[in-house]
Amino acid sequence: MERINRILQNKYFQEYLQNIYKWEINRKFCRHDFEHSLAVARIAYLISLERGNNFPRDILYGAALLHDIGRWQEYEGGIDHAQVSAELAEGILEEAGYGEKEKKVITRAIREHRGKGINNMSLLGEAIFEADKFSRLCWQCQVRDECYKYKEMPARGGLCY
Ligand SMILES: [Fe+2]
Ligand SMILES: [Fe+2]
Repeated sequence: MERINRILQNKYFQEYLQNIYKWEINRKFCRHDFEHSLAVARIAYLISLERGNNFPRDILYGAALLHDIGRWQEYEGGIDHAQVSAELAEGILEEAGYGEKEKKVITRAIREHRGKGINNMSLLGEAIFEADKFSRLCWQCQVRDECYKYKEMPARGGLCY
């Protein structure tokens, strides 16, 4: 997990998380903080083991930890955060020592993670997409009736990983 440690220590990774934190400080709905990304990583790992996909852990964690990293740019300028997260992830992955092919696989999954309008989603993209949903504990959320995502969440029935 050496490369994951390099992601965690990356100055841009930390700066972007800070940016997201500042934008979400008064947010009543789910946040896109480090805990969220870590939950997605762990759940995506379980999903991948269940399905026998056996992605290397640093590929899965790389995708999950970075899947929302550009969320602050969506707040700032309305840019789709899946797209911008993939772009920002590229440089962080490069600095952490991921190769060209690995960067392609990971950034594709990040681009796919919202699921909307994606045909032929990659297996890694699917794992991140589903883990993203399962990570949200809607069944215990106080503001779920105001949340536009609530209806599509598997965890709304208390289902969780
Ligand atoms: Fe997202
Ligand atoms: Fe997410």
